[in-house]
Amino acid sequence: MRISVVGAGYVGLATAVSLAETGNEVCVVEKEMDKLEKLKNGISPFFEPGLEQALNELIRERKISFHQDLKEKIHNSEIIFIAVGTPSLPSGEADLSGLIKVCTQIGKLMRDYKVIVIKSTVPVGTCDLAKRIIRENQEDLYDFDVVSNPEFLREGTALKDAREPSRIILGCGSKKARNIMQKLYEFVDAPVIITDLRSSEMIKYASNAFLATKISFINEIANICDKVGADIIEVARGMGKDKRIGSDFLRAGIGYGGSCFPKDTKALIQIAGHVAHDFKLLKAVVEVNNLQWKKVVEKLEFLLGDIKKKTITIWGLSFKPGTDDTREAPSILIIKEINRLGGVVQVYDPVIKGPVGGAFEGVTFCTDPYAAAEGSDAVILVTEWQEFLNIDWQRLKKGMAQPVLIDGRNVYDPHTIVANGFYYSCIGRPSVENRGFVKESMVDVYNIAEKRWNIS
Ligand code: UDX
Repeated sequence: MRISVVGAGYVGLATAVSLAETGNEVCVVEKEMDKLEKLKNGISPFFEPGLEQALNELIRERKISFHQDLKEKIHNSEIIFIAVGTPSLPSGEADLSGLIKVCTQIGKLMRDYKVIVIKSTVPVGTCDLAKRIIRENQEDLYDFDVVSNPEFLREGTALKDAREPSRIILGCGSKKARNIMQKLYEFVDAPVIITDLRSSEMIKYASNAFLATKISFINEIANICDKVGADIIEVARGMGKDKRIGSDFLRAGIGYGGSCFPKDTKALIQIAGHVAHDFKLLKAVVEVNNLQWKKVVEKLEFLLGDIKKKTITIWGLSFKPGTDDTREAPSILIIKEINRLGGVVQVYDPVIKGPVGGAFEGVTFCTDPYAAAEGSDAVILVTEWQEFLNIDWQRLKKGMAQPVLIDGRNVYDPHTIVANGFYYSCIGRPSVENRGFVKESMVDVYNIAEKRWNIS
């Protein structure tokens, strides 16, 4: 089939690649000139494992092309995917201006039947709005269908997720569009769920909100574990074995970031608000996440006392490993707070090598994890890149002014770190010996029992 994909972000490019690889003729439309030039030359505009190689192969085989304006290709396309960004407005609502522009243009240019597929994450009811905009902008009454087909890919594994999705959600009213879409996704070995437009739109928000809830829930349990002496790794292991709970997304740490969870949770709260529903649970999820990054700074202050003039090393800046995306990354807030407290920051990230759009100004970027820890009073692991999992602890310790390690992602074996002579602290694992700080803050069960039941 001949397909246009509007918007060359993670979703647009991963979709375009997976569809071009399965025998379709795909044209990607991107309005930003510098991004477009890069793509034409087979260069990915962002770091995503495997993407550049896939793009180059498809360009060589002439299965994919790049254009600045949809009007160059619309008449040659049977299906148009809209994968433009829907960033948060200050109110938390999704900004639909990009999507509205594209729908207006499609309406104006349309001369025959088209399927318009909304891939962007959009508030419930947006597909109906898209239908209206397209209809109102048509010169003549051409037939078309709007399909909601939300995307669940993760950054860092975007291509794998697009090639092997967990499920395909198709919100569509017409049989004609349903047949076309089912044929398009014949290559996929996953359940295809056909539903109505609004349920499909809600599936995306509900899925992301649920995953964010799992993370905030486990983080809260970890915060309590810190105080009562339980180990969150053990707790999550035990919980995860219950199939109804599942072990995924139970990794406690410094909270979720990225372009989806923070944006989509806020947008869903807004969507609920518009229909006079106070989504208390999701508000709490967001609130917990807004505070979670502070845990590492609290632990840092506990171990070092005053942070003023101390040198602090940050390992990892992106919101998660495998990406150079720093949108809503906890690293930004942690570094700001350390600077506010008078600390000096040295960083190392495997892919981010300098300030990004106003963030990380004034920090020293180093060439490797050891160089970043040279003369430092504490290392904070913020993003669990593979590179940080194979550290030579003695080499690290030798270069540091004080052997203090704060593990914001619970990736290290505490016993190994402590055996190497470090003061170590992580999230929700207070039962490790020789960490000083936790013992005192742990709840004294005996004291509570003494007061409650008069034990003498
Ligand atoms: C997410 C969804 O997974 C994906 O389906 C959707 O399409 C877009 O949003 P992404 O933002 O790429 O994908 O990252 P993901 O791997 O889901 O992680 C999101 C955040 O949650 C990261 O900051 C990660 O560190 C954090 N996280 C994840 C945890 O803190 N604990 C966990 O157990 C899992």
